[in-house]
Order: sequence, then C-alpha cells, then structure tokens
Amino acid sequence: MIEAKHLIKSFDGKEIIRDISATFEKGKTNLIIGRSGSGKTVFMKLLVGLLSPDAGEIRYDGRNLPSMKKAELNALRQEMGMLFQGSALFDSMTVMENVMFPLTMFSQETRQKQEMRAQFCLKRVQMADAADLYPGEISGGMMKRTAIARAIALNPKYLFCDEPNSGLDPKTSLLIDDLIHGITQEYNMTTIINTHDMNSVMNIGDKILFIYEGKKEWEGTKDEIMNAENKKLNDFVFASDLFRKVKAAENQ
Ligand SMILES: Nc1ncnc2c1ncn2[C@@H]1O[C@H](COP(=O)(O)OP(=O)(O)O)[C@@H](O)[C@H]1O
Ligand SMILES: [Mg+2]
Repeated sequence: MIEAKHLIKSFDGKEIIRDISATFEKGKTNLIIGRSGSGKTVFMKLLVGLLSPDAGEIRYDGRNLPSMKKAELNALRQEMGMLFQGSALFDSMTVMENVMFPLTMFSQETRQKQEMRAQFCLKRVQMADAADLYPGEISGGMMKRTAIARAIALNPKYLFCDEPNSGLDPKTSLLIDDLIHGITQEYNMTTIINTHDMNSVMNIGDKILFIYEGKKEWEGTKDEIMNAENKKLNDFVFASDLFRKVKAAENQ
C-alpha cells in the first residue's frame, strides 16, 4: 500500500500539487485521471521520489519516502517498476538486452538465473519470439510490452505507469491495459497509472483518483464514476469520445 498525505509541490511560486492525500492499495490498478496539465506527472514523480515535496508524507507500507536516507531510498527503488512516457528502450540493445539491463545492474543472481528471469518476463508479455530484435524493428505496442517486461524484471512490489497508452491505437491500448491489470493481480503489486483515456478507466479502473488543477477533486471506482455528482468530473468524463457515443446511443 502506498499512502500520500497532504502532498504539496510548487514550481516558481506556483502551487502545482495542492494538498493531495490518497491511498493506493495492493493488487489493484489505481488510476489517476485528469486533463493535460492537471499535475498527474508531477504527482507521480513525487510518489517515486524523482521530485521532493515541499510538504507531506509518502508512505510505502509505512516507510516515509521523503525522510529516507540515500541507501534506504536506493533499496526502495529496487522494489519499484516504472513505465514512464514513451517506452524509453535502449535503441542499441535487443529486446532481451533491454529486459536484462535492470537485472545486470541490481540482481545478485547468477547470469543464468538472470537470463531465465528475463525470458520469463518476455514470455509473460508475449515477446519471447522477438527477443533478438531491436526496438527499431518492432511496433509501438511491442515496444510497450518490452518496457513492461523490463519494469517487472526485478519483481517489483510497486508499479508506476505514466500514460502507458500514449501513441497506441485503441485496440493495442486495450491489450496493454489488460496486461498491466493482469500482472498487477498476479503478482499482487500496488499499481498506479496516469491516464486521460476513459476507455482505460472503464476497463481497469479498480480505483480512480481525479485531479483537477493540482487538487484531488474526486475518488471512487469505475462503477461509481458514471453516477458521480461532480460537475468537474462529469465534464471530464463526458468530454471523452467514448462517452459522447454512449450518451448519444442512450438518447436514441
Ligand atoms: N519542472 C517543472 N518546472 C516548472 N513547472 C512544471 C515542472 N513540471 C511540471 N510543471 C508544470 O506543472 C503543471 C502540471 O504538469 P504535469 O504534471 O506534467 O501535468 P499532466 O501530467 O497532468 O499533464 C503544468 O502546468 C506544468 O507546466
Ligand atoms: Mg503527464
């Protein structure tokens, strides 16, 4: 479980994250939604420790990240998998080498065991057959799957994905969503996903946090979102293509 308590972050005197408190549970895909510029990426960077908050706590199963010393933070980092915008694969490395990278950096296991782990992860994302290809030779969806395999190589307790579907077509987006949802349940990870894709919300939104101009505006489940009485949330939800279509169909 990850808990954020009264997080505040300003840039150049402007408050970007305005007193957000939230709880993210184990075995669930926790979605953070909001318009572009609402603060999702800054919030995620605070959670993983890439930015330091001006005030507030971030607790990983009780341990407060902002007060950690370097060694403790490094140990925690190895329990985190990250999938940040773009898949950020190394172009000069094969798919297999990309997944091996965190293992060779941080795993104490023998080379043979590391390779077995990498192969296992590639198999899980159905990329085993493409292990020897380079990122330039595969599709966007395959790159994303490789990045997921790399993110789970060290068997993380916590998984962070910032807009995992950006640049993917709707069908591939669905596959990526299902994959992230599946591995979250399978490995009982605490997963947090930034998205502005309502398809993802309805597909895998175990828990949803809606951020509006740096504030937590609403939280609930995908079953609650359709009937939520919150104007800002409704505007966001019904601005999406999917919901214009649903509404139009209902009115016929
Ligand atoms: N390093 C930074 N310095 C100054 N302003 C920033 C920085 N990072 C983000 N911001 C600002 O914070 C706001 C929220 O950005 P971001 O978290 O990227 O939004 P989102 O991910 O929801 O689209 C934006 O107005 C952005 O310009
Ligand atoms: Mg963002």
